[in-house]
Amino acid sequence: MPDADVAVQHLPSDSVALVTGAANGIGRAAAIALHAAGARVALVDRDGQGADAVAAQLGERAASFAADITDRRQVDAAVAGTVDTFGRIDIVAANAGYGRFGAFVDIEERVWQRHLDVNLTGTFNVVQAAVRVMRGGGSIILTGSTASTFPCDLFSAYATTKAGVAMLARSLAAELGRQQIRVNAVLPGVIESNMTDSILADGPTRLLVEQETPLGRVGHPEDVADVIVFLASAASRYVTGNSILVDGGQTTHGFPRWFSADASTGGDFEPHGARMIAFDGTATGGS
Ligand SMILES: NC(=O)c1ccc[n+]([C@@H]2O[C@H](COP(=O)([O-])OP(=O)(O)OC[C@H]3O[C@@H](n4cnc5c(N)ncnc54)[C@H](O)[C@@H]3O)[C@@H](O)[C@H]2O)c1
Repeated sequence: MPDADVAVQHLPSDSVALVTGAANGIGRAAAIALHAAGARVALVDRDGQGADAVAAQLGERAASFAADITDRRQVDAAVAGTVDTFGRIDIVAANAGYGRFGAFVDIEERVWQRHLDVNLTGTFNVVQAAVRVMRGGGSIILTGSTASTFPCDLFSAYATTKAGVAMLARSLAAELGRQQIRVNAVLPGVIESNMTDSILADGPTRLLVEQETPLGRVGHPEDVADVIVFLASAASRYVTGNSILVDGGQTTHGFPRWFSADASTGGDFEPHGARMIAFDGTATGGS
């Protein structure tokens, strides 16, 4: 069945969704899918021109706001701008995130701190600013990762902060339920996006991902976006505090060890049949 035929979902036409990281990848797909489902959409990204371009593509019922989620004043301005433009916020997809591969002993403090700043404090900024203006209930969807629940070599900073994102969803579900605000997380597996371009451009690595994925392919941003729309919609009205894996089954048998150390030798980290490429595109080892 073609992907495009899968999702026919509906949101109230007066509902307003704020999406972060909306200029690219999963956030862009989520903004497009929420808009197609009927919501008015505020696209927030530190790449303001990219957000503008997606908003222009959507046309009516879309607005863009340049904001780095690590800067609370910029986040507050984007939330205020959304309320000024559309009058309300009902749905929040707190999706923008940051990830770098690296052996724990080599992680620079600034890189560790960046994971905390974007994935945890940035998500906090967006959700708290939005909750303060949400009236009459709503739905908040955080973007975690399969790494929220499964560890992976070379991914300690990312996995640790994404685990925090999943716990934030559960904690807020408990706290915000009385306001009829539901809070859930999506946990994507390996999805085609700028974040994974450099990894998936490597043939053996892409093949490994496909081989380790029961559904036999790398994920598309739309695969995650449709679950975000489901969690935003009344179809999930009694669902809160959950983390939903959107990984094609990649974690069915535990987390695939995309990269691992040979413990018998105490040797360097070796990719399984593939070159090791960091998320910033830097080749870090392998053949
Ligand atoms: N692609 C994957 O395989 C994958 C897997 C699991 C989880 N995720 C998560 O999905 C989310 C989206 O990632 P993606 O794959 O779409 O990446 P992407 O690079 O395609 O898009 C990320 C977007 O977020 C924006 N952004 C980044 N930092 C920001 C900040 N501080 N403030 C505002 N905007 C910021 C970027 O400008 C970009 O437009 C992230 O939270 C990521 O950790 C991705």
